[in-house]
Amino acid sequence: MSDYIIAPSILSADFARLGEEVDNVLKSGADWVHFDVMDNHYVPNLTIGPLVCDALRKHGVTAPIDVHLMVKPVDRIIPDFAKAGATSITFHPEATEHVDRSLQLIRDQGCQSGLVFNPATPLDVLEWVIDKVDIVLLMSVNPGFGGQKFIPATLEKARQAREIIDRSGRDIRLEIDGGVNADNIGEIAAAGVDTFVSGSALFGKGQDSDPNRYDSIVKAM
Ligand code: DX5
Ligand code: ZN
Repeated sequence: MSDYIIAPSILSADFARLGEEVDNVLKSGADWVHFDVMDNHYVPNLTIGPLVCDALRKHGVTAPIDVHLMVKPVDRIIPDFAKAGATSITFHPEATEHVDRSLQLIRDQGCQSGLVFNPATPLDVLEWVIDKVDIVLLMSVNPGFGGQKFIPATLEKARQAREIIDRSGRDIRLEIDGGVNADNIGEIAAAGVDTFVSGSALFGKGQDSDPNRYDSIVKAM
């Protein structure tokens, strides 16, 4: 695994013009669309569901849609997102009773699967399910809101996750989510991360997404 991937989080996009915002950021060179799903239960915020994912596909978005579930329970929404056109689905191990089963369910639905680790969640569970994981997503903020500050301890966790992934010899992406910007993306990449979610640094609420912001993030790597 080598190429870097930029996955703009549409959480910071202008939802009234979502299709246009996504088109703009993809035209600027972004690779994936990061799709944050919040349920006002697992996290204290409420966002978007499968209908919006389906709407983006119908709008003509062909890029991978990276669904980040911040919901509890996890399993019952997985088939709906698969049908709505999700490419990958990641969830937090704390939010499901049976981590292995939820990972398998995602793959059975034809999507790539992933686990998301909150800042204070250890990586322990990973080694027991590593053969069912395509993405390891490290939260570098506490989940629930865009625009928070990057938690520096995540860099050490990224180095540890990189070691675990390399030792496994598997084709697994190491993704980071929260507070990523042009100033810190270089050191995050140096810690072994290959996939970068960025919301507020790429989208401005109520403004056109600015291609130069994307360019500055990529150039900083
Ligand atoms: C937080 C979300 C993130 C967040 C990223 O719970 O998972 O995807 O919106 O936004 P920024 O880049 O603004 O931290
Ligand atoms: Zn996210």
